[in-house]
Amino acid sequence: MTNTTVTLRVNRFAPRPERNRDRGGSPFARKSSPFGSSSEAPARRRPRGKQWTQDYVIEARPEDTVLDCLLTIKRTVDPTLAFRYSCGHGMCGSDAVSINGTPTLLCTATVKDWAKPANTAVQTDDEGFRHTEGADASDEASSLNDTDDANGSSLGVIELAALPGFPVQRDLIADIDPMLDQLKKLKPALQADGVLATTKDGKVDVFEYLQNPDQLAQYERLTNCIACGVCEGSCPVFAGGDAFIGPAALIWSSRFINDSRDTKAAERMDAIDTADGVAACQSVRACSRQCPRGIDVGEEMWQIVAKVRER
Ligand code: SF4
Ligand code: FES
Repeated sequence: MTNTTVTLRVNRFAPRPERNRDRGGSPFARKSSPFGSSSEAPARRRPRGKQWTQDYVIEARPEDTVLDCLLTIKRTVDPTLAFRYSCGHGMCGSDAVSINGTPTLLCTATVKDWAKPANTAVQTDDEGFRHTEGADASDEASSLNDTDDANGSSLGVIELAALPGFPVQRDLIADIDPMLDQLKKLKPALQADGVLATTKDGKVDVFEYLQNPDQLAQYERLTNCIACGVCEGSCPVFAGGDAFIGPAALIWSSRFINDSRDTKAAERMDAIDTADGVAACQSVRACSRQCPRGIDVGEEMWQIVAKVRER
């Protein structure tokens, strides 16, 4: 048992249920998710629903991750709280959220790094809700651990919200399809014409892609990108990917443009030499600050922009 607590202040969101089209809906109405299909990103609508802020006070140690805390809440306090994660150790990129207003990963953020002193006592109603201005009242099931936060053992408050720049789906889960759509459009796989060969019986022949260490160094650091979206959530221009394809898409494009084995560098540069491509990057460099894989995204943006313009 620990004798310290932390308060997780979670921006919650519950989407409005879809209308039942079987009862009264037009048979000719186009069926789609409330977030639109992946092929209609520009027309993507923000889902509507209930929005409120909820405080959870739980026992935690300074070295616990924020993901550990959320799992404790999910298992012991409030099973309705929604968040996404997979690997739990900074490799899959599925758990990017906003912590204290900064995009980062839940599984690598520790309580001691992110808990900040509570300036004021937590104001909650009898059900444990702390309503934001203008938000609808919620009748969602909720519960709040009633651990006393004023007993001097509190490690502080951590504010959580879904990753900025993307539509929120539920609670801490953002719809990152706009980013994945942009990545797919730029063909994020090696294209090497004339290298693949087949044997007489039609099987793929064994072959090697030879590179020297300098050629590998040109792109190796970019292979660390896990498409978490943290850089996109930090970018003031991205905001959903309508006006700018985003730093992650450019990182992936640059990764193959700089790979000596890839034979489509010219086509790849054409694909990002657009108004919503390199021309949209304003060099704000906010994307560099929190990349969990240590990529200096702003510097990489700068280099790929220069490369495209100088050809
Ligand atoms: S460049 Fe870094 S922050 Fe951006 S998507 Fe890749 S891993 Fe995430
Ligand atoms: S859960 Fe995989 S990166 Fe955090």
